[in-house]
Amino acid sequence: METLLLSAQNQETAALAAELIKKGELVALPTETVYGLGADGLNPDAVAKIFKAKGRPQDNPLILHIADAADMEKYCHSIPDAAYALAEKFWPGPLTMVLPAKDIVPKCTTAGLSTVAIRCPDCEITREIIRLAGVPIAAPSANISGKPSTTTAQHVLHDHEGKIPMIVDGGPCRVGVESTIIDLSDERPRLLRPGGITPHQLVEVVGDLILDKAVTESVAKDAVVKAPGMKYKHYAPACEVIVVTGSKEAAAKYIVEHYQPGNRVLCFEEELETFAAFSPLAYGKESDEDSLMAGLFAALRELDDAKIGTVFARRPIGSGKALAVQNRLMKAAGFRTVDAEPKGLVLGITGGTGCGKTTLLKAFEEMGGWVEDCDQVYHQLLKTGTTLLDAIEARFPGCVDGFKLDRRKLAGIVFNDPKALADLNAITHGAVKKEVLRRLEHIPGGYPIAIDAIELFDGGLAELCDVTVAITAPEEDRVKRLIARDSISEQQALERIYAQKPESYFREKCDYVLENNGTPEEFREKCLAFFRNLLIIKEKP
Ligand code: TXA
Ligand code: MG
Repeated sequence: METLLLSAQNQETAALAAELIKKGELVALPTETVYGLGADGLNPDAVAKIFKAKGRPQDNPLILHIADAADMEKYCHSIPDAAYALAEKFWPGPLTMVLPAKDIVPKCTTAGLSTVAIRCPDCEITREIIRLAGVPIAAPSANISGKPSTTTAQHVLHDHEGKIPMIVDGGPCRVGVESTIIDLSDERPRLLRPGGITPHQLVEVVGDLILDKAVTESVAKDAVVKAPGMKYKHYAPACEVIVVTGSKEAAAKYIVEHYQPGNRVLCFEEELETFAAFSPLAYGKESDEDSLMAGLFAALRELDDAKIGTVFARRPIGSGKALAVQNRLMKAAGFRTVDAEPKGLVLGITGGTGCGKTTLLKAFEEMGGWVEDCDQVYHQLLKTGTTLLDAIEARFPGCVDGFKLDRRKLAGIVFNDPKALADLNAITHGAVKKEVLRRLEHIPGGYPIAIDAIELFDGGLAELCDVTVAITAPEEDRVKRLIARDSISEQQALERIYAQKPESYFREKCDYVLENNGTPEEFREKCLAFFRNLLIIKEKP
C-alpha cells in the first residue's frame, strides 16, 4: 500500500482524511501533543486495525478524540462538574479525561473498561477531520508500541510507511509529550499520566488530586492498574538508557568512569560543554521545560540504535512540566537511575515544644542547609496527592468528611484507646516517612539536610539521619515562649509541655544536645558554630 503524506495546508487534505476514516481506514493525524494513529472510534473493525498496526496489547484502551467539548456528553455519562470545569479551562488542549462510558462506545476502544478516555485536541485540521467524518476518532500515539512517540510526520512515516494509507503532516508537535490524563470516574480525581497541563493547574480547578503510583514508580506487568498503558515498557530506544542525577559535574565524573566508546549522553543544552567528550545530544534547555517536552521524543528516536550500547540521560527536577519529562525518561530507562552525587549530611532535629527549634532551623538555612519540616509534610499529605486520608478512613470509618479529616472525631476515638492510637500513628508515621524519603531523593546532592520532627524516633525518621540533635531549654523559658507565641495561659503552656516526652528522653536518644539557655542571639551563634563544626568534621573521610 502506498502511504500518502499530505500537508495540513493542502485544501483537500481534511476531506480526504475524513473519507478514509468514514470508510474504516487508518489516518495518522497531527495534534498539539504527539501524532496519533486515528480510526473511527465507534467502528470495532477500524479500531482493530489500530491495534494491529501498532502491535499494541489488546488490554490497553484508546483515547477518543472529539471536535467540540459538548460532544463529551455523547460518549460519557455521570459527568461530574469537575469535568465541565476542566473542559472549559483546558479544551481544546493537552488534557484527557477518563469518564464513565456510554454503551455507544465499543468495548474494543475501551479495552473492555466501563470508562472511556476523552480529549479535544488543540489542532485545527484534526478537529476539522473529526467534524467532517462525523465520528469521534480513536487515536493512540502513532509510534510502534514500546517505541518513543511520534512528534513529526516523518517519525510516523518511519514507523508505518506502506502500512497505512495516509499521514496528515501538520509540522512538529507544539507540546511534544502526550496529554495529561486525569481520571474523574472515581470519588477523587486521580492523575494517571503527567503532561503539558501540570498537577498544580489541575488542582487549581478541581481542588484535589491523587497522583497515581504509576506516575513516578515502575509498575509490574501483572499489576491491576488504573491506567493500563502505564505498565508496559515504553518510549524505549533500542539501546539501554540510564538516568544520571546530581550536579552536572558529579554526573560527568560518573560518566567518565562508565563510558564505553559509542555510548551517548542525552542532556540539556546548558550542559553540552560539560559532556563534550561523550558525544552529547541536547533535547532542550534545562531553563525551559517547554523545550524539553518538545524535544524529548525526537532525541530518543535519534538514539534508537542498538550500536550505541548505553545512553546516559539527564532529567529535569520539578513537579510541574518537569514531571512529564521525568516520567517519559524514567520509562525509557526502565526506571534505571544512578545518583551521581552523594547526599549531603542528613541531620535529625527534635525536642519539645517551645525549646527554640525555629531559631536553630533558621541558622541551618542561613548556612545553606535544606529543611524538611515533618509537621508540614503531614499537613500537605492530608491536603493533596496521597492515600493518607483513604488509609485513615479505612481504619477509622467516618473520620474523613469529604476530603477533610474530622480531627475532633478522630481524637475522640484514639483518646484512651492505646491500640487505636498505635494504629493511627502507624498510618501517619508510615506515610510521612515515605514522603520524606521521596523528597530526600529529589533534593539536589551536596546540600546538608535537616529533618525536623518531634516524633523523630517513634516515626522511624531517625533511620534516615546520619546524626540526631536534641534541643533543650529551661522549663520557665519554654513556658514564656509558648505564652508569647501561641497566646495561651501559663497553665495551658505547662499542659502542652507535660503532654510531650520529657527532656531526659531526648537527651538519651540523640547524638548531640544543644541547650538553649541564653539569649536568642547566643543560641543562634551556638547553632551556627555547631553546624560549622559538624559539617567540617563529616566532610573529612
Ligand atoms: O496526547 C495524547 O494523548 C496522544 C494524542 C494522539 O492524542 N494519544 C495518546 O494515546 O497518548 P496513547 O494510546 O498512546 O495513550 C493513551 C493512554 C494509555 O496509557 C491508556 O492506557 C490510557 O491512555 N487510557 C485510555 N483509556 C483509558 C481508560 N478508560 N482508563 C484509564 N486509562 C486509559
Ligand atoms: Mg502511546
